[in-house]
Amino acid sequence: MGMVEKIISEAQAKGICEELLRAYGAPGAEAKAVAEVLVAGSLRGVDSHGLQLLPVYLPRIERGLVRPGAKVEVVREGPATALVDGGMGFGAVVGKRAMELAMEKADRCGVGAVGVRRVDHFGIAAYYAMMAAGRGMMGIAATNTAPLVVPVGGKGPALGTNPIAIAIPAGRHRPIVVDMATAAVARNKLFLAARKGERIPPGLALDAEGRPTTDPAEALKGAILPAAGPKGYGLAVAVDALSGALTGSACALDVISLGNSMTEPPNIGNFFMAIKVDAFLPLEEFKARIDNTIDQIKGVPKAPGVGEILMPGEPEFRTADRRAKEGIPVDGETWKRLEELGARRGLDIEAMALRYRSP
Ligand SMILES: NC(=O)c1ccc[n+]([C@@H]2O[C@H](COP(=O)([O-])OP(=O)(O)OC[C@H]3O[C@@H](n4cnc5c(N)ncnc54)[C@H](O)[C@@H]3O)[C@@H](O)[C@H]2O)c1
Repeated sequence: MGMVEKIISEAQAKGICEELLRAYGAPGAEAKAVAEVLVAGSLRGVDSHGLQLLPVYLPRIERGLVRPGAKVEVVREGPATALVDGGMGFGAVVGKRAMELAMEKADRCGVGAVGVRRVDHFGIAAYYAMMAAGRGMMGIAATNTAPLVVPVGGKGPALGTNPIAIAIPAGRHRPIVVDMATAAVARNKLFLAARKGERIPPGLALDAEGRPTTDPAEALKGAILPAAGPKGYGLAVAVDALSGALTGSACALDVISLGNSMTEPPNIGNFFMAIKVDAFLPLEEFKARIDNTIDQIKGVPKAPGVGEILMPGEPEFRTADRRAKEGIPVDGETWKRLEELGARRGLDIEAMALRYRSP
């Protein structure tokens, strides 16, 4: 025990996540889906949206804020569209189902768009967008979140960190994966910085008085700035409309999620879209075009001191490759919380880690 960082393998991470989720009532298939998305976050280096979320998710199950075994229903449907009621289920479970449905529709219609309401937090948006890239489609995933971000000119928050991910299939290269909060910084990164006692760069957040701050604790009491000023602000408004208004979920200041409440049921919404490439161009031609774009971008003369130009998504692919080999770091605080949450259900996390250790 203690606050020392742990390094665990992908298999250990998945095993621990799944067993804990099952111990807290998730059916096997749901535990597997949630573990898959959380471990994908950790592997990709998005520690704020990886295993660190498990100690947030488990108490939500206990409080009935997220319902294992939830009935996921299509409540409205057109040839290329669907509105899904997630039954207050896990975001990962509902999100994977919704993206599958969007892809089935895109397969038939060229494009498929699925909105989701009554669902809990879904983790990294990239996971869902990337499901499409392997199937010859562009994928889009977005969600609104608790209001934490100030509109341009505001002092207090009005909008969520409202992330959007877009995945684009390539040929020789790996898919392009844009995955970003529309806020200057994801809120979980503020928690992580606060926990590690680190400062945050200037220009990301305001304190409770609306003054710029580099102290993550002050920022958590205040508000986050939008990414790139009015541009991120505009995108956040658009993501709120797509995932909140369009799905009949809450919008703007009315949104409740784990970002602002661990006692009230979440009322966020999600939006998923798949665009079948060969409804427009032969897939191979499209991929060659994207490869060419990537080559051109990477071939541009580099700024002083820069060794290489990376595509959106490339930093995460590289981290995932490295962590698949070298393991996933879990901060001591998260590990301790997992031990406590395991012990409450008679599970020994250290023993579990040994059991899932690869030979
Ligand atoms: N579920 C939720 O409620 C929620 C809320 C907010 C954020 N998130 C997730 O949090 C994660 C982190 O979001 P973020 O905004 O902090 O991401 P980020 O700022 O770390 O990265 C944003 C994008 O920039 C790209 N990028 C970063 N450095 C690059 C470089 N040097 N060259 C080329 N591209 C580069 C990344 O590949 C990524 O596509 C995302 O996965 C997001 O979906 C989820």
